[in-house]
Amino acid sequence: MTGVDISDAAIDVAQGLSETTGIKCEFVRSDLFDWLESTDARFDIAFASYGCVGWLSDLARWARGIVRILNPGGRLVCIEFHPLVWSLSKAGLAGDSYFVSEPISDSDGVSDYVGDALAPSGFEPGVGEFQNPERAFSFQWTVASIIQSLIDAGMELDVIREYPHANGCELFEGMHRIEGNRYTVPQGMASIPLMLGLRATNGLPDAAD
Ligand SMILES: C[S@@+](CC[C@H](N)C(=O)[O-])C[C@H]1O[C@@H](n2cnc3c(N)ncnc32)[C@H](O)[C@@H]1O
Repeated sequence: MTGVDISDAAIDVAQGLSETTGIKCEFVRSDLFDWLESTDARFDIAFASYGCVGWLSDLARWARGIVRILNPGGRLVCIEFHPLVWSLSKAGLAGDSYFVSEPISDSDGVSDYVGDALAPSGFEPGVGEFQNPERAFSFQWTVASIIQSLIDAGMELDVIREYPHANGCELFEGMHRIEGNRYTVPQGMASIPLMLGLRATNGLPDAAD
């Protein structure tokens, strides 16, 4: 098992979790695109979870990279916050446009949202006062654009799921916390999908380089 992240801090946390749980994993500190395009390793499963797709500047490049590192018949399993959630706020549909195509710039950088989100589930205490001086850019990819990028790269979509809750993360103020550290939309608001699950199989006979 190999985990990839561009952040030393994220790799340190992951390393600690690996040691605590006894789940063996090799960790690589790298830009994901660079690693996908250069590694000689091939895998049966590629896994991407909460808060991955929204940091990718180029979905087609990501999907081609996934196909490259998967064995023929290998699978991508992806569980993400649903792209619709970034259009929501306590006030309803008042966030970013679902179809915004430019990078979304956050001049305040990225706070310790991972630590904040995971702390209630008991893994890491988080760094509540963390201030990041770096400007951050995220990307709004629609459900259709995610699926189309995988199809275009040669993946076959097997499973798609939508969930009415978000695991472990209050995505905007006023969300309703339910059992299992899950959050739903605020009470009184119509339920919409808050997480998206995908499983796709590498349909290409040989890894494409
Ligand atoms: C929201 S976190 C992911 C959390 C993780 N998926 C989980 O479920 O706990 C986003 C991560 O993406 C990493 N990241 C952002 N851009 C990246 C890139 N170009 N290459 C590799 N990692 C990147 C960040 O360092 C950060 O650790």
